[in-house]
Amino acid sequence: MTGERETEQGKERPVAVFDSGVGGISVLRELVKLLPHENFIYYGDSLHAPYGTKTLEEVRRLTTDHAEELFEKGAKGLVVACNTATSAAVRSLREQYPKVPIVGIEPAVKPAALCKPHPTVLVMATPMTIREEKFRRLMARYEKQAEILPLPCPGLMDFIERGDLRGEDLRRYLEELLYDYRGSRVDAAVLGCTHYPFARELIQQTLGENVRIFDGGEGTAREMKRRLAVSGLLSSRGGKGSVTFENSLPDAGKLELCRKLFDLR
Ligand code: DGL
Repeated sequence: MTGERETEQGKERPVAVFDSGVGGISVLRELVKLLPHENFIYYGDSLHAPYGTKTLEEVRRLTTDHAEELFEKGAKGLVVACNTATSAAVRSLREQYPKVPIVGIEPAVKPAALCKPHPTVLVMATPMTIREEKFRRLMARYEKQAEILPLPCPGLMDFIERGDLRGEDLRRYLEELLYDYRGSRVDAAVLGCTHYPFARELIQQTLGENVRIFDGGEGTAREMKRRLAVSGLLSSRGGKGSVTFENSLPDAGKLELCRKLFDLR
């Protein structure tokens, strides 16, 4: 095969999107908006979720194994649509696959810290994301511009995994978790886990309507588009691309939930 034909075919391979469960669909939605002609494979590892309460080594091994499988299936690039897996594994994945566009997600601290002069910014994320060095460095970068309050939210992703986006139990959980920050006591909140945008409505209600909420989904999608363009891997097929859902839990209900979250208005 000539090099040119190889490149042409390479462009039409799918982009893989990976998360510990269904949360990364919040990033997938942004990707599809920005890259409508691409084909996507979304892989959720719900069988091993949550990642946020595991050790760094466990999350790194799971992420690396799944990335390997997705590349074996022919993915031309990978979006690690999970803040926890990004902090554990994205650097080693890039070392392992130096020529492949691999994009991770991190809490959107920058736009939140710059949203007004010296705001108070609550960062909601998994215990692991907040514990890791990557987040410490991110926080240190903006500590002069904002007061940053990291808040580990163990258990929040489980509501989304169950498809509970606005039930009474979730409302009570959030009222307790956010007790000290309610009634617009913070200026901004960062949803530093890809599951949390699906609970955005209740988080907004609990914190107060004046609190600005940020998540990293759109920025991550933009970065993937840029990386594909730089590598000459943007599809030139035209027309609408496809989205395929896969999950490590062999459960029809999980795939149904994926579709439902993807199609949310
Ligand atoms: N969706 C993931 C994140 O962005 C993690 C949820 C979990 O597995 O704990 O951090």
